[in-house]
Amino acid sequence: MDIEAQLIDLLGPDTVSVTNEDMVKYGQDMTEDFVFQPDVVVTPASVEQVSALMKWCTQNHVIVTPRGAGTGLSGASLPIAKGVLLSMEKFNQILDIDEANMQATVESGVINDVLRHAVERVDLFYPPDPASKGSCFIGGNVAHNSGGPKAVKYGVTKDYILNLEVVLPNGEVIWTGSNTLKNSTGYSLTQLFLGSEGTLGIITKVVVRLIAKPKHNLLLWANVDLATTACKAVSDIMKSGIVPSGLELMERKGIDLACDQLNLSSPLEKNSQAALLIEVDGNEMDRLYAGCEQIGVVLENHGVSDVLFADSTEQKEAWWKIRRSIGEVVKNHSTYKEQDTVVKRSHLAELMAGVKEIGKRYNFESVCYGHAGDGNLHVNILKNDLTDEEWNGAHLENGIREIFRLCKALGGTISGEHGIGYVQKKFMNEVLTDTHLSLMRGIKKAFDPLGIMNPGKIFD
Ligand code: LAC
Ligand code: ZN
Repeated sequence: MDIEAQLIDLLGPDTVSVTNEDMVKYGQDMTEDFVFQPDVVVTPASVEQVSALMKWCTQNHVIVTPRGAGTGLSGASLPIAKGVLLSMEKFNQILDIDEANMQATVESGVINDVLRHAVERVDLFYPPDPASKGSCFIGGNVAHNSGGPKAVKYGVTKDYILNLEVVLPNGEVIWTGSNTLKNSTGYSLTQLFLGSEGTLGIITKVVVRLIAKPKHNLLLWANVDLATTACKAVSDIMKSGIVPSGLELMERKGIDLACDQLNLSSPLEKNSQAALLIEVDGNEMDRLYAGCEQIGVVLENHGVSDVLFADSTEQKEAWWKIRRSIGEVVKNHSTYKEQDTVVKRSHLAELMAGVKEIGKRYNFESVCYGHAGDGNLHVNILKNDLTDEEWNGAHLENGIREIFRLCKALGGTISGEHGIGYVQKKFMNEVLTDTHLSLMRGIKKAFDPLGIMNPGKIFD
């Protein structure tokens, strides 16, 4: 019997697909233009089904690639080794919002924004907000330790995960920790899953910590002559004692592409090469206005005086839309490769200048934007006039390597929030030694001795 027939026997016909349409749909995520078709797409609806599937895959040595919403940028959910593509899309229930303890239990296929809106109805807040928050799943956020603009004040996904229900590769179901705010009971199996990119097991339920929802926010847009000027101002804003709830940088090209494609009017002034988007939040309006004034003074000290203030909810939404859509509009505009560089915050200007200098030498244009307050700069490299050979071969790879070497020299690393997945694994040796990698392989082996869980991701 073939895989499809056996899985239909095990899980029922509604759970198994081999249609051409599904092979293509589930063979790609948001990473460049890769398509790797699996042998079969499986969409279980219960932990029992996931457990039965994993037991069967272990017995039959069949490879499994787990997938959330497919919004990833490092190719972690690409089924590069064929086998079963396991989509968690039916795990879409919010199971409990425990107001008294400020936590929620959700299935791993709940959309990030759906959770946020649900807890906001009871004045609670789930901060991690990746750009894809309208479609990405909480399980995928855990698997990538996703960030987003709010991370600069509130931290990333790992800071909000209390406990996980996971199905191990052999089909056994465990909870990794406890639903408590503190837990010092041996190694943190929970945190091992943060950034594990589907290589250790299948996350089926997630218990998140929540905080009280801040009542108000204010948003500033600062036009800046050069992106490096903006980078320099960022450190001083953070040092001034204000902790913004967003401190984002955008280069002109990203803003222009977003405004053109989304038909939005651009707040960017004609002599500015970049802009900062700065949000403050809290419960007292007076303090927020005072904070904005203080930020204005710091910006002024850096020669930045063209600072706009969002005076309506619509204005705020439009500015955030420009920022959040940059990745997507660049992808629509050109073949591109995305690098998720991160350095110590005070070195951001050096990183930015270095990326441009490397681009000149290797003849590539880049659109840079991202979470400047975290030192996390997304570098989108455009194909433009590079030949296919230069683009796919050693030429561009060497250029990217130089960027990553610069990150390391500036106290940083090769991914801040997108993960390693399929496309960045060849660069791991720039920042990790054989000792690091063999420790990671040992952990992988302890969970997945047969190597059936998402092989070829993070490392070979
Ligand atoms: C962003 C995604 C690409 O910040 O991380 O837009
Ligand atoms: Zn980002």
